[in-house]
This record gives sequence, structure tokens and C-alpha cells, in this order.
Amino acid sequence: PLMEELLGLSVLEDRIREAYGLQQVVIVPGDSDTSASTKQNLGRAGARALLSVMRDDDIVAVTGGFTLAEVAEQLSPTLPAPLRDAWFVPARGGLGENMEYQANSIVSTMAKRVGAQYRLLHVPDLLRRDAYELLYEDENVREIVEFIRRARIIIHGIGDAMEMVRRRRLDPQLVEEIRGAGAVAESFGHYFNAEGQTVHHMLTLGLQLEDIANAEVVIGIAGGRSKAQSIHAVLKFGQEDILVIDEAAAREIVKEL
Ligand code: G3H
Repeated sequence: PLMEELLGLSVLEDRIREAYGLQQVVIVPGDSDTSASTKQNLGRAGARALLSVMRDDDIVAVTGGFTLAEVAEQLSPTLPAPLRDAWFVPARGGLGENMEYQANSIVSTMAKRVGAQYRLLHVPDLLRRDAYELLYEDENVREIVEFIRRARIIIHGIGDAMEMVRRRRLDPQLVEEIRGAGAVAESFGHYFNAEGQTVHHMLTLGLQLEDIANAEVVIGIAGGRSKAQSIHAVLKFGQEDILVIDEAAAREIVKEL
């Protein structure tokens, strides 16, 4: 076998951390593509990473997806004191996820689990640009969007671009455009090519790319060998501080270092 196949997880963590200048890398054993317990462990590691950086006055912006739903499931109350003055908010509104995996649902679960507050952003999926502009003129909408944009912590999933366009049922012409632009990853409504450049973003309200750059702690969480290329692209985008992945993804990523 290649040297890389024999490396221990902590060596893999160090390699990825150093290569991308991250604060922390956590790798759980196994492959989330094929193992339900690996998915659970990934969620638990994500929950632990989040709690380790959370303060009582925080605003935490959260994306949707299966992985973040698992993080919410694995969050347990912070003892002795609940995070009573912390807020959970969705990173962006109305991206076309199924109800259980929408950021709004995950946000309310997370907040309840740690005794924190939450606010939701209700934006219908796939509106026209002029409809967004009109929505944003509403004082209540603008107020919550501005609140979200102040998030100190962002915790997000990472998806394969083509899987996400399918899940969100984007129209075929747009899918071809995104594919043609070389998108391999999707996160917080943005599509990235293999070099980590944004090639498309969905029109929705909430965090903008500059907010991600300005946030103090960005936590990316994703697992499975099939997501290695997408995770790598988001690493090249260069805004992650903490990365929580699984062994199968990590072993693919280090091959490219
Ligand atoms: O934006 C990325 C996706 O929401 C993450 O997908 O459902 O596999 O966690 P997931």
C-alpha cells in the first residue's frame, strides 16, 4: 500500500491543518457514504467543535443539509449553564431543501438543545430578483438579515455540486450553466469550482461571501469519500477555520497535497 494509506488519523489531521492554515481539523474514523455510525460520529464531532468555540453572547449562523441535522441531533445541553443569551440563525433563506433539512428547522433544534435563542428567516425558494429586492425593503426582513450577517460563528455543510442541483430541482438550463462553469462543490448557496472560486450563487437573503470572510469562526463539516473533491474545493476557497470530516474524505484529500 501507499504510505498515505497507513497514516494515522492524527497525522492526517496535522497534514490538512498545516496545508490549509486551519485552526483545527477533526477526523472521525470510517466513511459516511457507507456507514451510519460514521455519520453519527461526524455529527457528534461537529457538535463538540461548535460547543468548544461558542460563547454566551454569540450569533451562530447554520446551513441546512443532512450533516447539519445530525450535528443538531448530537448537541447536548451545555452544563452547568445553558447558553441562554446565544442565538442560532439560518445562514440563508429558502434554498430548496426538504423541511427536515432546512436551516430553519436545524436552527430551532440546535437552540432548544442547548437552551439558546433562535430567529428564523422565511424566504420562499427561487424567487425572481425583483421579488428579493422587494422583500428586502420590508423592515422586518431587513432587520433579521442584518442580524444574521453579524454572526461570529458560521457552521456549514459541504455538498457535491451536481447532487445539490438535483436535490434543489434547479431548472435544466441553469444546471447546464453550473456544470459548464466547472462547479464541484456547493455550500451556503454558493457553487465552487475545483480551484475554490465561486462560479454561481443562488439568489437568496442572508449571509454574503464577505460575511463569511469576516466571521471569526467558520466551521465546515462533511464526510464520505464521495465528498472529498467538494471539501477540497471549499478548502481552496480558503475561509475555513475548523474542519470536521471523516477518514475516507481525509485520505482522498491528502493524496492531493
Ligand atoms: O450545502 C451543502 C449541503 O447542504 C450539505 O449536504 O446534506 O450532505 O450535509 P448534506
